[in-house]
Amino acid sequence: MNVILLGPPGVGKGTQAKRLTEEYRIPQISTGDMLRAAIKAGSQLGKEAKGFMDRGALVPDSVVLGLVDERIRADDAKNGFMLDGFPRTVVQADTLGEMLVKQGRAIDHVVCLLAANDELVRRLAGRRTCNKCSAPFHVDFKPPRKPGVCDACGGELYQRDDDKEEAIRTRLVTYDTQTKPLIEYYKGKKLLRSVDGLGSMDAVYARIREALGPA
Ligand code: AP5
Repeated sequence: MNVILLGPPGVGKGTQAKRLTEEYRIPQISTGDMLRAAIKAGSQLGKEAKGFMDRGALVPDSVVLGLVDERIRADDAKNGFMLDGFPRTVVQADTLGEMLVKQGRAIDHVVCLLAANDELVRRLAGRRTCNKCSAPFHVDFKPPRKPGVCDACGGELYQRDDDKEEAIRTRLVTYDTQTKPLIEYYKGKKLLRSVDGLGSMDAVYARIREALGPA
């Protein structure tokens, strides 16, 4: 099953993708996580991406497309994948479609999670992320068992540079202007399922499963 998880920053894409990939046995492919790994590794690509990410702007399409093209060809993605945070522009969506046609594959579902901006800001401002496995936590909604330590792998939790107030505001505008048009794009292809992202993490998970159908 080839799935795209679409939605604004902070709506819960990463949270849900991590759980869904276990049940559906397909890898989560998060371009945000891949870019943050490149920054941590100090690679040229990471250095290029950091400035864009810290201020809440999109990294150039050419950079992200190269990463995804290679990643979806990997062995663990042969039977499907869950794209989280990609595509984010119409150019990325068009190019993804072309890549998949060349591989004789296609997108099966696009799930778009939705929530109001005040809830997104609340989620982003309180988020803490594991520096080892990228698992998301929240100071109020999902506190770790031991403060500052990841429940899953014991890694250290940190606050992302783009989870500060000014970058959050820019990211929401970036989403509205550059990524939101993908809702109509995938509606036009009859692939889009809109899912309410409000409520408990379990409730949202159950809605996505219903939209995707059985594993
Ligand atoms: P990326 O890392 O993809 O960030 P994003 O899309 O802005 O999404 P987030 O990770 O912020 O949120 P999420 O929806 O995954 O929410 P989460 O589950 O963590 O991208 C970062 C940057 O990289 C971009 O700004 C851009 O610069 C660059 N980039 C990445 N991809 C790119 C691309 N394709 N093209 C160009 N540039 C790209 O949840 C958020 C918080 O809410 C957590 O604390 C969580 O615990 C909590 N939470 C989740 N669900 C619930 C719930 N139901 N109730 C209460 N709290 C909840």
